[in-house]
Amino acid sequence: MSSTAAPLLLRADVPVSTPGHRYDIHIAAGALADPAAWQGLPAAAQAVIVTNTTVQALYAAALQRALAPHYGRVAVLALPDGEAYKDWQTLNQVFDHLLAAGCDRKTVLFALGGGVVGDLTGFAAACYMRGVPFVQVPTTLLAQVDSSVGGKTAINHPLGKNMIGAFYQPQRVVCDLDTLRTLPPRELAAGLAEVIKYGPIADVAFLDWIEAQLDALLAREPAALLHAVRRSCEIKAWVVGQDERESGLRAILNFGHTFGHAIEAGLGYGQWLHGEAVACGMVMAADLSRRLGLMPEAFVERLRHLLQRAGLPVQAPAAIGVERFIELMRVDKKAEGGEIRFVVIEALGRAAVRPAPDALVREVIARHTQPAAA
Ligand code: NAD
Ligand code: GLY
Repeated sequence: MSSTAAPLLLRADVPVSTPGHRYDIHIAAGALADPAAWQGLPAAAQAVIVTNTTVQALYAAALQRALAPHYGRVAVLALPDGEAYKDWQTLNQVFDHLLAAGCDRKTVLFALGGGVVGDLTGFAAACYMRGVPFVQVPTTLLAQVDSSVGGKTAINHPLGKNMIGAFYQPQRVVCDLDTLRTLPPRELAAGLAEVIKYGPIADVAFLDWIEAQLDALLAREPAALLHAVRRSCEIKAWVVGQDERESGLRAILNFGHTFGHAIEAGLGYGQWLHGEAVACGMVMAADLSRRLGLMPEAFVERLRHLLQRAGLPVQAPAAIGVERFIELMRVDKKAEGGEIRFVVIEALGRAAVRPAPDALVREVIARHTQPAAA
Protein backbone atom coordinates (compact mmCIF):
# COMPACT_ATOMS: atom_id res chain seq x y z
CA MET A 1 0.00 0.00 0.00
CA SER A 2 1.44 3.38 -0.97
CA SER A 3 0.85 6.37 1.21
CA THR A 4 0.74 9.79 -0.42
CA ALA A 5 1.06 12.87 1.69
CA ALA A 6 -1.44 15.60 0.87
CA PRO A 7 0.33 18.37 -1.11
CA LEU A 8 1.10 21.42 0.95
CA LEU A 9 -1.14 24.17 -0.34
CA LEU A 10 1.10 27.21 -0.35
CA ARG A 11 -1.51 29.84 -0.98
CA ALA A 12 -3.88 32.17 0.79
CA ASP A 13 -6.20 35.02 -0.09
CA VAL A 14 -6.69 37.96 2.23
CA PRO A 15 -9.47 40.46 1.50
CA VAL A 16 -9.04 44.20 2.06
CA SER A 17 -12.18 46.33 2.46
CA THR A 18 -12.15 50.09 2.63
CA PRO A 19 -15.23 52.33 2.40
CA GLY A 20 -14.81 52.85 -1.33
CA HIS A 21 -13.01 49.73 -2.47
CA ARG A 22 -12.54 46.01 -1.98
CA TYR A 23 -9.69 43.90 -3.28
CA ASP A 24 -7.79 40.70 -2.59
CA ILE A 25 -4.22 40.01 -1.61
CA HIS A 26 -3.40 36.80 -3.41
CA ILE A 27 -0.41 35.05 -1.80
CA ALA A 28 1.05 31.92 -3.40
CA ALA A 29 4.25 30.19 -4.34
CA GLY A 30 4.41 30.44 -8.14
CA ALA A 31 1.68 33.11 -8.41
CA LEU A 32 3.42 34.91 -11.29
CA ALA A 33 2.92 31.90 -13.56
CA ASP A 34 -0.57 31.03 -12.27
CA PRO A 35 -3.23 32.21 -14.76
CA ALA A 36 -5.80 32.40 -11.96
CA ALA A 37 -3.84 35.22 -10.32
CA TRP A 38 -4.47 37.50 -13.31
CA GLN A 39 -8.12 36.78 -14.09
CA GLY A 40 -10.78 39.42 -13.63
CA LEU A 41 -8.64 42.55 -13.63
CA PRO A 42 -9.92 45.69 -15.39
CA ALA A 43 -9.87 45.30 -19.17
CA ALA A 44 -7.68 47.65 -21.25
CA ALA A 45 -5.83 47.84 -24.52
CA GLN A 46 -2.53 48.43 -22.77
CA ALA A 47 -0.79 47.41 -19.58
CA VAL A 48 2.51 48.84 -18.39
CA ILE A 49 4.76 46.95 -16.00
CA VAL A 50 6.69 49.51 -13.97
CA THR A 51 9.72 47.95 -12.35
CA ASN A 52 13.39 48.68 -11.77
CA THR A 53 16.47 47.43 -13.59
CA THR A 54 17.23 44.72 -10.99
CA VAL A 55 13.75 43.21 -10.84
CA GLN A 56 13.26 43.58 -14.59
CA ALA A 57 16.09 41.11 -15.21
CA LEU A 58 14.52 38.59 -12.80
CA TYR A 59 10.76 38.71 -13.23
CA ALA A 60 9.51 41.14 -15.92
CA ALA A 61 9.43 38.52 -18.69
CA ALA A 62 7.38 36.13 -16.52
CA LEU A 63 4.85 38.84 -15.70
CA GLN A 64 4.72 39.95 -19.33
CA ARG A 65 3.90 36.35 -20.34
CA ALA A 66 1.20 36.09 -17.67
CA LEU A 67 -0.46 39.34 -18.80
CA ALA A 68 -0.20 38.78 -22.55
CA PRO A 69 -3.57 36.95 -22.84
CA HIS A 70 -5.33 39.90 -21.18
CA TYR A 71 -3.91 43.02 -22.86
CA GLY A 72 -3.12 43.91 -26.50
CA ARG A 73 0.19 45.45 -25.49
CA VAL A 74 2.22 44.89 -22.33
CA ALA A 75 5.15 47.30 -22.07
CA VAL A 76 7.93 47.23 -19.48
CA LEU A 77 9.34 50.42 -18.01
CA ALA A 78 12.47 49.83 -15.90
CA LEU A 79 13.42 52.67 -13.56
CA PRO A 80 16.77 53.05 -11.79
CA ASP A 81 17.00 50.96 -8.60
CA GLY A 82 17.11 52.54 -5.16
CA GLU A 83 15.37 54.65 -2.53
CA ALA A 84 17.29 57.65 -3.85
CA TYR A 85 15.19 57.40 -7.03
CA LYS A 86 11.83 57.54 -5.25
CA ASP A 87 11.67 61.14 -6.32
CA TRP A 88 10.02 63.65 -8.58
CA GLN A 89 12.40 63.13 -11.51
CA THR A 90 11.80 59.37 -11.62
CA LEU A 91 8.05 59.83 -11.23
CA ASN A 92 8.17 62.11 -14.24
CA GLN A 93 9.88 59.36 -16.23
CA VAL A 94 6.74 57.27 -15.71
CA PHE A 95 4.49 60.09 -16.97
CA ASP A 96 6.83 60.65 -19.95
CA HIS A 97 6.53 56.97 -20.86
CA LEU A 98 2.76 56.79 -20.44
CA LEU A 99 2.17 59.89 -22.56
CA ALA A 100 4.66 58.92 -25.27
CA ALA A 101 3.06 55.44 -25.50
CA GLY A 102 -0.43 56.93 -25.85
CA CYS A 103 -1.69 55.31 -22.63
CA ASP A 104 -5.31 56.20 -21.93
CA ARG A 105 -7.43 56.29 -18.79
CA LYS A 106 -7.99 52.53 -18.87
CA THR A 107 -4.32 51.58 -19.05
CA VAL A 108 -3.45 49.33 -16.11
CA LEU A 109 -0.12 49.82 -14.33
CA PHE A 110 1.56 46.83 -12.68
CA ALA A 111 4.06 47.72 -9.96
CA LEU A 112 6.62 44.89 -10.05
CA GLY A 113 9.25 45.23 -7.34
CA GLY A 114 9.77 46.34 -3.78
CA GLY A 115 8.23 49.19 -1.85
CA VAL A 116 10.05 51.87 -3.81
CA VAL A 117 8.56 50.74 -7.12
CA GLY A 118 5.19 50.07 -5.47
CA ASP A 119 4.91 53.46 -3.77
CA LEU A 120 6.07 55.41 -6.81
CA THR A 121 3.96 53.47 -9.33
CA GLY A 122 0.90 53.75 -7.10
CA PHE A 123 1.37 57.51 -6.93
CA ALA A 124 1.84 57.67 -10.71
CA ALA A 125 -1.40 55.68 -11.11
CA ALA A 126 -3.21 58.06 -8.75
CA CYS A 127 -2.10 61.10 -10.79
CA TYR A 128 -2.02 59.98 -14.43
CA MET A 129 -5.17 61.29 -16.12
CA ARG A 130 -6.50 61.79 -12.55
CA GLY A 131 -6.33 58.07 -11.83
CA VAL A 132 -5.76 54.81 -13.70
CA PRO A 133 -6.06 51.30 -12.23
CA PHE A 134 -2.96 49.63 -10.82
CA VAL A 135 -1.96 46.26 -9.44
CA GLN A 136 0.73 45.64 -6.85
CA VAL A 137 3.10 42.75 -7.59
CA PRO A 138 5.49 42.97 -4.62
CA THR A 139 8.76 41.05 -4.82
CA THR A 140 10.40 41.95 -1.49
CA LEU A 141 9.29 40.63 1.88
CA LEU A 142 8.77 44.19 3.07
CA ALA A 143 6.50 44.99 0.16
CA GLN A 144 4.54 41.73 0.52
CA VAL A 145 3.87 42.22 4.23
CA ASP A 146 3.36 45.95 4.27
CA SER A 147 3.89 48.50 1.51
CA SER A 148 1.80 46.88 -1.24
CA VAL A 149 -1.27 46.76 1.01
CA GLY A 150 -3.45 49.66 2.08
CA GLY A 151 -3.07 52.26 -0.65
CA LYS A 152 -0.39 54.56 0.72
CA THR A 153 1.52 55.83 -2.31
CA ALA A 154 4.25 58.45 -2.31
CA ILE A 155 7.61 59.81 -3.33
CA ASN A 156 10.20 61.35 -1.01
CA HIS A 157 11.05 65.05 -0.71
CA PRO A 158 14.56 66.11 0.33
CA LEU A 159 12.97 67.54 3.50
CA GLY A 160 10.97 64.46 4.44
CA LYS A 161 10.21 60.88 3.55
CA ASN A 162 6.98 59.99 1.70
CA MET A 163 5.88 63.61 1.97
CA ILE A 164 4.29 63.86 -1.48
CA GLY A 165 1.67 61.22 -2.14
CA ALA A 166 -1.91 60.03 -2.16
CA PHE A 167 -4.13 57.34 -0.71
CA TYR A 168 -4.93 55.21 -3.73
CA GLN A 169 -5.89 51.56 -3.48
CA PRO A 170 -4.68 48.91 -5.94
CA GLN A 171 -7.08 46.63 -7.83
CA ARG A 172 -5.29 43.58 -6.46
CA VAL A 173 -2.07 42.56 -4.74
CA VAL A 174 -0.31 39.45 -6.06
CA CYS A 175 2.49 38.13 -3.84
CA ASP A 176 4.58 35.35 -5.38
CA LEU A 177 6.49 33.79 -2.47
CA ASP A 178 8.98 32.26 -4.91
CA THR A 179 10.33 35.72 -5.76
CA LEU A 180 11.67 35.94 -2.20
CA ARG A 181 14.26 33.29 -3.06
CA THR A 182 16.39 35.81 -4.97
CA LEU A 183 16.16 38.53 -2.33
CA PRO A 184 19.54 39.50 -0.83
CA PRO A 185 19.79 38.49 2.88
CA ARG A 186 19.97 42.13 3.99
CA GLU A 187 16.65 42.86 2.21
CA LEU A 188 15.04 39.75 3.75
CA ALA A 189 16.03 41.00 7.20
CA ALA A 190 14.64 44.46 6.41
CA GLY A 191 11.30 42.83 5.58
CA LEU A 192 11.38 40.86 8.81
CA ALA A 193 11.48 44.16 10.70
CA GLU A 194 8.00 45.00 9.39
CA VAL A 195 6.79 41.45 10.14
CA ILE A 196 8.06 41.74 13.72
CA LYS A 197 6.33 45.13 14.03
CA TYR A 198 2.88 43.51 13.86
CA GLY A 199 3.49 41.52 17.06
CA PRO A 200 3.87 44.31 19.63
CA ILE A 201 1.21 46.52 18.02
CA ALA A 202 -1.51 43.92 17.42
CA ASP A 203 -0.87 40.24 18.04
CA VAL A 204 1.13 38.74 20.91
CA ALA A 205 0.64 35.17 19.61
CA PHE A 206 2.21 36.26 16.31
CA LEU A 207 5.19 37.71 18.18
CA ASP A 208 5.62 34.37 19.98
CA TRP A 209 5.35 32.55 16.62
CA ILE A 210 7.99 34.78 14.99
CA GLU A 211 10.38 34.14 17.89
CA ALA A 212 9.87 30.39 17.51
CA GLN A 213 10.06 30.38 13.69
CA LEU A 214 12.75 33.00 13.07
CA ASP A 215 15.30 30.44 11.90
CA ALA A 216 12.77 28.98 9.46
CA LEU A 217 12.02 32.47 8.18
CA LEU A 218 15.71 33.27 7.74
CA ALA A 219 16.07 29.94 5.89
CA ARG A 220 13.12 31.04 3.67
CA GLU A 221 11.08 27.94 4.41
CA PRO A 222 7.97 28.34 2.24
CA ALA A 223 5.41 27.42 4.89
CA ALA A 224 6.94 29.88 7.37
CA LEU A 225 7.04 32.65 4.75
CA LEU A 226 3.43 31.99 3.82
CA HIS A 227 2.28 32.30 7.43
CA ALA A 228 4.37 35.46 7.98
CA VAL A 229 3.01 37.15 4.85
CA ARG A 230 -0.57 36.03 5.43
CA ARG A 231 -0.77 37.04 9.10
CA SER A 232 0.95 40.37 8.43
CA CYS A 233 -1.49 41.10 5.59
CA GLU A 234 -4.47 40.07 7.75
CA ILE A 235 -3.41 42.50 10.48
CA LYS A 236 -2.72 45.30 8.02
CA ALA A 237 -6.03 44.69 6.22
CA TRP A 238 -7.86 44.77 9.56
CA VAL A 239 -6.28 48.13 10.46
CA VAL A 240 -6.72 49.71 7.02
CA GLY A 241 -10.33 48.50 6.88
CA GLN A 242 -11.10 50.58 9.96
CA ASP A 243 -9.01 53.64 9.17
CA GLU A 244 -7.97 53.92 5.54
CA ARG A 245 -6.75 57.52 5.75
CA GLU A 246 -4.97 57.38 9.07
CA SER A 247 -7.29 59.57 11.06
CA GLY A 248 -6.49 57.45 14.10
CA LEU A 249 -5.85 53.70 14.37
CA ARG A 250 -3.73 53.32 11.22
CA ALA A 251 -0.94 55.35 12.82
CA ILE A 252 -0.06 52.27 14.92
CA LEU A 253 1.44 50.76 11.76
CA ASN A 254 4.12 53.40 12.14
CA PHE A 255 5.58 51.86 15.30
CA GLY A 256 9.30 52.69 15.15
CA HIS A 257 8.86 54.85 12.07
CA THR A 258 9.18 58.29 13.68
CA PHE A 259 12.71 57.48 14.85
CA GLY A 260 13.30 55.36 11.74
CA HIS A 261 12.36 58.02 9.20
CA ALA A 262 14.73 60.45 10.93
CA ILE A 263 17.55 57.93 10.49
CA GLU A 264 16.73 57.43 6.81
CA ALA A 265 16.47 61.14 6.03
CA GLY A 266 19.38 62.10 8.31
CA LEU A 267 21.82 59.72 6.63
CA GLY A 268 20.46 60.32 3.12
CA TYR A 269 17.88 57.98 1.59
CA GLY A 270 19.30 54.58 0.71
CA GLN A 271 22.14 54.49 3.25
CA TRP A 272 20.16 52.43 5.72
CA LEU A 273 17.32 50.31 4.35
CA HIS A 274 13.85 51.35 5.44
CA GLY A 275 13.38 48.12 7.41
CA GLU A 276 16.74 48.58 9.14
CA ALA A 277 15.80 52.10 10.22
CA VAL A 278 12.41 50.84 11.44
CA ALA A 279 14.13 48.06 13.44
CA CYS A 280 16.31 50.54 15.30
CA GLY A 281 13.34 52.89 15.60
CA MET A 282 11.24 50.15 17.22
CA VAL A 283 13.85 49.60 19.93
CA MET A 284 13.85 53.35 20.55
CA ALA A 285 10.04 53.52 20.61
CA ALA A 286 9.96 50.50 22.95
CA ASP A 287 12.36 52.27 25.26
CA LEU A 288 10.25 55.42 25.10
CA SER A 289 7.25 53.29 26.09
CA ARG A 290 9.29 52.06 29.07
CA ARG A 291 10.33 55.58 30.08
CA LEU A 292 6.67 56.64 29.92
CA GLY A 293 5.94 53.89 32.46
CA LEU A 294 3.95 51.76 30.02
CA MET A 295 6.22 48.77 29.45
CA PRO A 296 8.96 47.00 31.44
CA GLU A 297 12.63 46.93 30.45
CA ALA A 298 12.17 43.22 29.68
CA PHE A 299 10.04 44.18 26.65
CA VAL A 300 12.77 46.46 25.28
CA GLU A 301 15.30 43.66 25.69
CA ARG A 302 12.96 41.06 24.14
CA LEU A 303 12.44 43.18 21.05
CA ARG A 304 16.10 44.12 20.77
CA HIS A 305 17.12 40.46 21.03
CA LEU A 306 14.66 39.35 18.34
CA LEU A 307 15.71 42.11 15.93
CA GLN A 308 19.38 41.31 16.50
CA ARG A 309 18.71 37.63 15.81
CA ALA A 310 17.14 38.72 12.53
CA GLY A 311 20.36 40.55 11.66
CA LEU A 312 18.95 44.03 12.07
CA PRO A 313 20.64 47.12 13.55
CA VAL A 314 19.48 48.31 16.97
CA GLN A 315 21.77 51.33 17.46
CA ALA A 316 21.22 54.60 15.59
CA PRO A 317 24.17 56.07 13.70
CA ALA A 318 26.18 58.65 15.65
CA ALA A 319 26.52 60.81 12.54
CA ILE A 320 23.06 62.34 12.93
CA GLY A 321 23.35 63.90 16.40
CA VAL A 322 20.54 64.55 18.88
CA GLU A 323 19.52 68.03 17.66
CA ARG A 324 19.32 67.02 14.02
CA PHE A 325 17.46 63.84 15.00
CA ILE A 326 14.78 65.87 16.75
CA GLU A 327 14.57 68.41 13.93
CA LEU A 328 14.00 65.58 11.43
CA MET A 329 11.30 64.00 13.60
CA ARG A 330 9.35 67.27 13.62
CA VAL A 331 8.72 66.76 9.87
CA ASP A 332 6.93 63.47 10.67
CA LYS A 333 3.34 63.31 9.37
CA LYS A 334 2.05 62.47 12.87
CA ALA A 335 3.45 65.75 14.26
CA GLU A 336 0.76 68.27 15.21
CA GLY A 337 1.52 71.98 15.66
CA GLY A 338 5.24 71.19 15.81
CA GLU A 339 4.71 68.59 18.57
CA ILE A 340 6.21 65.20 17.75
CA ARG A 341 3.91 62.23 18.42
CA PHE A 342 5.13 58.69 18.83
CA VAL A 343 3.61 55.25 18.48
CA VAL A 344 4.12 53.65 21.88
CA ILE A 345 3.24 50.21 23.20
CA GLU A 346 0.73 50.35 26.04
CA ALA A 347 0.56 46.60 26.57
CA LEU A 348 1.85 43.72 24.46
CA GLY A 349 -0.38 43.69 21.38
CA ARG A 350 -1.76 47.20 21.93
CA ALA A 351 -0.32 50.48 20.62
CA ALA A 352 -1.28 54.15 20.89
CA VAL A 353 -0.04 57.50 19.59
CA ARG A 354 1.22 59.99 22.16
CA PRO A 355 3.43 63.04 22.56
CA ALA A 356 6.43 62.59 24.87
CA PRO A 357 8.45 65.00 27.00
CA ASP A 358 11.46 66.33 25.12
CA ALA A 359 13.85 65.18 27.88
CA LEU A 360 12.70 61.57 27.56
CA VAL A 361 13.10 61.62 23.80
CA ARG A 362 16.64 62.97 24.18
CA GLU A 363 17.45 60.21 26.69
CA VAL A 364 16.18 57.61 24.23
CA ILE A 365 18.27 58.97 21.37
CA ALA A 366 21.37 59.16 23.56
CA ARG A 367 20.94 55.60 24.90
CA HIS A 368 20.39 54.03 21.49
CA THR A 369 23.00 55.86 19.43
CA GLN A 370 26.33 54.29 18.56
CA PRO A 371 29.27 55.93 20.32
CA ALA A 372 30.91 58.52 18.03
CA ALA A 373 34.18 57.35 16.49
CA ALA A 374 37.21 58.68 18.38
P1 NAD B 1 13.16 48.42 -2.40
O1 NAD B 1 11.93 48.65 -3.14
O2 NAD B 1 14.28 49.39 -2.56
O3 NAD B 1 13.69 46.95 -2.72
C1 NAD B 1 14.86 46.50 -2.09
C2 NAD B 1 15.90 46.00 -3.08
O4 NAD B 1 15.57 44.67 -3.46
C3 NAD B 1 16.02 46.78 -4.36
O5 NAD B 1 17.38 46.86 -4.74
C4 NAD B 1 15.24 45.93 -5.35
O6 NAD B 1 15.67 46.12 -6.69
C5 NAD B 1 15.57 44.54 -4.87
N1 NAD B 1 14.61 43.51 -5.17
C6 NAD B 1 13.28 43.60 -5.16
N2 NAD B 1 12.73 42.39 -5.31
C7 NAD B 1 13.75 41.52 -5.45
C8 NAD B 1 13.81 40.12 -5.61
N3 NAD B 1 12.73 39.36 -5.59
N4 NAD B 1 15.04 39.55 -5.73
C9 NAD B 1 16.16 40.31 -5.69
N5 NAD B 1 16.16 41.63 -5.51
C10 NAD B 1 14.96 42.23 -5.38
O7 NAD B 1 12.87 48.35 -0.83
P2 NAD B 1 11.65 47.74 0.03
O8 NAD B 1 12.26 47.38 1.33
O9 NAD B 1 10.92 46.72 -0.70
O10 NAD B 1 10.67 48.97 0.22
C11 NAD B 1 11.06 50.11 0.94
C12 NAD B 1 10.14 51.24 0.56
O11 NAD B 1 8.81 50.92 0.94
C13 NAD B 1 10.47 52.55 1.25
O12 NAD B 1 10.48 53.58 0.31
C14 NAD B 1 9.34 52.74 2.23
O13 NAD B 1 9.06 54.08 2.49
C15 NAD B 1 8.21 52.08 1.53
N6 NAD B 1 7.13 51.64 2.42
C16 NAD B 1 5.87 51.98 2.10
C17 NAD B 1 4.81 51.54 2.86
C18 NAD B 1 3.41 51.84 2.45
O14 NAD B 1 2.49 51.59 3.22
N7 NAD B 1 3.18 52.34 1.25
C19 NAD B 1 5.05 50.74 3.99
C20 NAD B 1 6.36 50.39 4.30
C21 NAD B 1 7.40 50.85 3.50
N1 GLY C 1 3.21 51.35 6.73
C1 GLY C 1 2.30 52.25 7.30
C2 GLY C 1 0.93 52.26 6.72
O1 GLY C 1 0.66 51.62 5.74
O2 GLY C 1 0.08 52.92 7.21
